[in-house]
Formats: sequence, structure tokens, C-alpha cells
Amino acid sequence: MEGTTRKRSLLKVIVLGDSGVGKTSLMNQYVYNKFSQRYKATIGADFVTKEVQIDDKQVTLQIWDTAGQERFQSLGSAFYRGAECCVLVYDVNAHKSFETLNTWREEFLKQVDPAAPGNFPFILLGNKIDKDGGNSRVVSERQAKEWCASRANIPYFETSAKEGYNVDEAFLCVARAALANE
Ligand code: GTP
Ligand code: MG
Repeated sequence: MEGTTRKRSLLKVIVLGDSGVGKTSLMNQYVYNKFSQRYKATIGADFVTKEVQIDDKQVTLQIWDTAGQERFQSLGSAFYRGAECCVLVYDVNAHKSFETLNTWREEFLKQVDPAAPGNFPFILLGNKIDKDGGNSRVVSERQAKEWCASRANIPYFETSAKEGYNVDEAFLCVARAALANE
């Protein structure tokens, strides 16, 4: 309803990618400004929310963090439905996590079955760019950008959940993409 109270948007976002790439860490850095070196596997899926201002609009991002480990995934895909944007994450130091991106993307599309799959907003994050000062990196920015270019120009960000590098910028792009797809 129009009037003094504005309609508020709740935007659902799903974060997918192999185990250990830093999905939970990115979310914790974005929402709580916290980082932990310790690895604790996500089981199933869980969400956190964050209020975001986009231009003159206040939106609530509901960010679903999912399990990368196969044995903890059982319920994961049940939560994909209704998502307005999907964040794919890989580790720039782990080639396997880059190779599996397509499987994650296709599995997501299969579950959500959007009206226009070619136009569904995905965002790709190449995480852990801080690791070993960049010396253990095995996937180049160019390779990642090529992957994105051949899939309807998916926006790409290189991030470090550890240092908080590019995390706010990436999620702002996510929020904008989700809002546009509402
Ligand atoms: P699952 O829950 O199993 O799917 O894993 P995940 O993708 O949620 O990975 P998680 O965020 O738990 O991070 C895995 C490990 O990588 C942890 O030990 C983190 O501390 C570490 N890590 C995450 N992000 C970064 C980063 O940007 N840089 C570095 N150096 N380490 C990171
Ligand atoms: Mg996790």
C-alpha cells in the first residue's frame, strides 16, 4: 500500500560453491565484520539477514549459506526456491572449485526452474585472493572473466573474506541484481 509506510523488499539470495571456498566466511565478514581462521563445515543451510540501502530504497537481504560438503547437502537444494539471486563462490587457489562452478549453476537452475534461465542473475566471487600473497593462485582473473562472459556476462568480483577486500562491493552488486529480479 502507498502512504507513509513504504513497502519493504525481502530479497532472497543463495550462496553456492564447493566446501572450503569461504562461503560462510564471506557472509560473516559482510554481515558481522568478523573472520575466523578455523574451519567449521556448514550443515544443510542457514540464513542471515542484512538491511541494505540501495539508492532511496531500503531492502532486507536474506542470505542463505549452504553446505559445500556433499554429505551435508541433503536439505540444501530445498531452500533454493524463491531465490532472486545466486552467488557462486570458488577459491582462486583451488582449481577443482573453479571446475565445479558449472555443476552448481546447473543444479541451481534445475531446482529453481526460473522462467528465463538465461537471464537469471548469478554473481561469481573468486575468494581468498590474499592467500600466500597471491603465490598459490591457480585460476587467473582472465579465466574467471571468460567463464562469466560466456554465461550472459555474469558480474565477477575477486574477494578476500579474511581481509574484507571487495566483500561489501560484491554484496551490493548482489543486492542490486536481486532487487532488479524481484
Ligand atoms: P562449507 O561450509 O564446508 O561449504 O565451507 P565454506 O565455503 O563455508 O568455507 P568457510 O567459510 O568455512 O572457510 C573455509 C576455510 O577457509 C576456513 O578455514 C576459513 O578461515 C578460510 N578462508 C575463508 N575465506 C578466506 C579468505 O578470504 N582468505 C583466506 N586466507 N582464508 C579464507
Ligand atoms: Mg560454510
